[in-house]
Amino acid sequence: MKGYHIWLGKLREGILVIDFGGQYAHLIARRIRELRTFSLLVSADDGINAINRLKENINIRGIILSGGPGSVWEVSHDEIAKWVLHQGVPVLGICYGHQLLAKVLGGKVSRAPKGEFGPTMVEVIDEDIILRGHGKRFKAWMSHNDAVLEEPPSSRVLAKSSGSPVAAFKYGDKIFGVQWHPEVHHTEHGMKLFENWLELTGIKGQWHPSNLIDEIVNNIKNVVGSSKAVAAVSGGVDSTVAAVLAKKALGSNLIPVFIDHGLHPEGEVKRAVVLLEKCGVKPIIIDASERFLSALRGVKDPEEKRKVIGKVYGKVLEEEALRLGAEFLVQGTIYPDVIESGARPGADVIKTHHNVGGLPKDLKLKVVEPLRWFYKDEVREIAKALGLPKELWKLKQPVPGPGLAVRIEGEVTKEKLEILRKADKIVREEIESAGLHDKLWQYFAILTASRATGVKGDRRAYGHVIVIRIVESKDAMTANVAKIPWEILERIVTRITGELDSVTRVLYDITPKPPATIEWE
Ligand code: XMP
Repeated sequence: MKGYHIWLGKLREGILVIDFGGQYAHLIARRIRELRTFSLLVSADDGINAINRLKENINIRGIILSGGPGSVWEVSHDEIAKWVLHQGVPVLGICYGHQLLAKVLGGKVSRAPKGEFGPTMVEVIDEDIILRGHGKRFKAWMSHNDAVLEEPPSSRVLAKSSGSPVAAFKYGDKIFGVQWHPEVHHTEHGMKLFENWLELTGIKGQWHPSNLIDEIVNNIKNVVGSSKAVAAVSGGVDSTVAAVLAKKALGSNLIPVFIDHGLHPEGEVKRAVVLLEKCGVKPIIIDASERFLSALRGVKDPEEKRKVIGKVYGKVLEEEALRLGAEFLVQGTIYPDVIESGARPGADVIKTHHNVGGLPKDLKLKVVEPLRWFYKDEVREIAKALGLPKELWKLKQPVPGPGLAVRIEGEVTKEKLEILRKADKIVREEIESAGLHDKLWQYFAILTASRATGVKGDRRAYGHVIVIRIVESKDAMTANVAKIPWEILERIVTRITGELDSVTRVLYDITPKPPATIEWE
């Protein structure tokens, strides 16, 4: 399998975020994009050579060093810090990054008398550039045991807190460190800090994905030429936008293919096909549901399920593509898929997203991923600019590639699929008829492997347990549980237990992401 990631034509000016393993590193890259500035995340574990090679793709105008779980004395990345300081661009160190900068610049970093965890008051000593608009005192999110106890020589202390005598410092004109996490929403003025720092880079506000459409289309043309390509479409925003862009580039040489794996929510196949037709990418439909179900027989482990589905999906797609004489496969992989699948070296595999991790290694097609560098809301922005229907980029809730298989705990069977489809349909109907859907990211049902006792028709029953998951999110990287009015939840419970004989309990999942993921599995 050979991948064509469709770089964005020319060198893009942007911010490099070096990830030292911090839980929130990806959020930093995300926040910079929110400020309409291009950013890429790279793992410190990749080493300096790999980081240097990125210069082929990004004209680095600023570097942010993320937080990380270790102490600068245990996990030493001094070489990287020195490399960073040699680039001559504005630098911002956050938490571990702040301590690392302080250490290599000659400051004193060691275990603080008391660590700071959670909301912490920070006192501004000198607002300089980055703390403009922060007031005298503000609340910041901290999470550290070590602290910078003395600032590096010739630097200035900009802020302090009770556990951090040097909570922020400035060295030279454009090197800054902050002990707190501006990328976390709980930090007051976090975005303001990034905004202030970005001003030093001179590139703030220039990243507009919707202006890149012609460039992306030309790149697809250059890569695929006069060959044929299939686009794997699901009716979701990512794969549809990728197919529409490829269609613009390749015309009739682009063949959209919809593989029905039989794991879709009720009505989803029809909805998807109608929508795809409206978007000008009417697909060939391949019913492979029996093949998927038989491959899933006896498979209980979530990651195994994803892999099985990915494998069958890749196989069916490859067979169809070769039958159609295609040489290329267009996929709607987006940046969070790349990050979360661990395709970026050094990242933990949180989940195998089948559009990144599951395709066979010996796939006989060359893979084209035009959206690989974009976040979901950026893809939506492109969809809007392409004039695609609003239901695609605004109202449609994402359905994971493996469909209901990751919402059925344990083995997937036809019977379980039927129960879950009915419960899920009720959740959707109630949320949509209450007009809440456009405020929500996802709302769906899960069929657990648990059983619980109930009373049905005056008889004791021992039935299935359904979980309802309703979340708000901007990009699925983090999510909050929606505070749905109680009456609606009650109605959902009444309907599910009333209309589904085999269900005796309905639970509402109130766990945000993190620590939970949005999907059950
Ligand atoms: P999680 O569950 O990781 O989900 O918080 C984040 C977003 O991704 C979707 N999702 C998937 N999409 N293949 C996909 O194409 C998958 O295996 C997969 N797992 C989760 C999920 O619906 C949410 O929007």
